[in-house]
Amino acid sequence: MSNGPEFAAPLDLVVEGAATPVTVGGIDLALVREGDVVYAIRDECSHASIPLSEGDVEGCEIECWLHGSRFDAKTGKPLNLPAVESVPTYATTIQDGRILVDVSVPIQN
Ligand code: FES
Repeated sequence: MSNGPEFAAPLDLVVEGAATPVTVGGIDLALVREGDVVYAIRDECSHASIPLSEGDVEGCEIECWLHGSRFDAKTGKPLNLPAVESVPTYATTIQDGRILVDVSVPIQN
């Protein structure tokens, strides 16, 4: 298990409008960028085991390609059916052009 923020990716490699898959502390994440803010959401749909990073991104919303549920990458909450459960999200910080993610505890929304 990790302790505190860990390096996830250089900020320059994470573009808006697409999800960037990374693994931090053994947890697969999809990074979603909106301006200078980056959100980290677990890279697995809560409806079935599908990587969210393979879906479309618009703003901070990421869509599961299998059945079309969209999730708010900021809160992890599903925005439409069929998914009803949230996906864990994690705190991010940007330091010297590097994205750090703390995967030790999911954000409580
Ligand atoms: S597997 Fe993601 S919405 Fe069904």
